[in-house]
Amino acid sequence: MGINVWMPRIASVKPTLTVTEPEILRTASPSKDWQSSQYSTDWDALKTEVQNCTLCGLCNTRTQTVFGSGNPHADWLVIGEAAGEEKDKQGLPFVGVAGQLLTEMLRAIGLSRDDVFMTNILKCRTPENRDPHVDEIKHCKDYLQRQQQLIKPKIILAVGRIAAQTLLNTHDPLTKLRGNVHTFNNTPVVVVYHPAYLLRSLPEKRKAWQDLQFAKQTFIAMDNQSCVD
Ligand code: URA
Repeated sequence: MGINVWMPRIASVKPTLTVTEPEILRTASPSKDWQSSQYSTDWDALKTEVQNCTLCGLCNTRTQTVFGSGNPHADWLVIGEAAGEEKDKQGLPFVGVAGQLLTEMLRAIGLSRDDVFMTNILKCRTPENRDPHVDEIKHCKDYLQRQQQLIKPKIILAVGRIAAQTLLNTHDPLTKLRGNVHTFNNTPVVVVYHPAYLLRSLPEKRKAWQDLQFAKQTFIAMDNQSCVD
């Protein structure tokens, strides 16, 4: 399928932070309160609300909503744009070739799909995979914020232009947004190229690898900092 497993080739990305063993990337914070029954109740209620959502016209064209998948207690929240056709059928985010590439990208920094929670800006597919409309984003953003509040991720990976621009409330191009640490509701956000774009533009894979290294280093720096605080 032409998807290669990524191996580290680039030693340094800016800014250079201390990198420790990848295992630390998978350690969910013990301070999270997700063991409480309230957490499960709230999570299930949100899921049901999304499933039944009729706030915009996409409810008429979707097969089903795509709430997200992975570990709902993860330290990493991975946010894409919207479900594609396959995801709409399967009810899962990032399946298909682009999803496999994203899975490999994460594996390259020591994370499996079960170590992160993956979701999208929009919980429904758009017709012909067109860009989301402003009103669609507006309605769905509340669901995303509530997912974030429950998961309490330590870092957000914004995958692609739409996710990045929506989360960061900007029209800046991805080239300007990548390589910096932004925030969304006080959580650090790192922007990476969308795997669908990388499949069309293979030379950019090198930059995507740099973005992921940067995200990993940012996470470790934040995690170390929160241990000290
Ligand atoms: N699949 C998703 O779930 N999200 C994207 O952004 C692209 C493909």
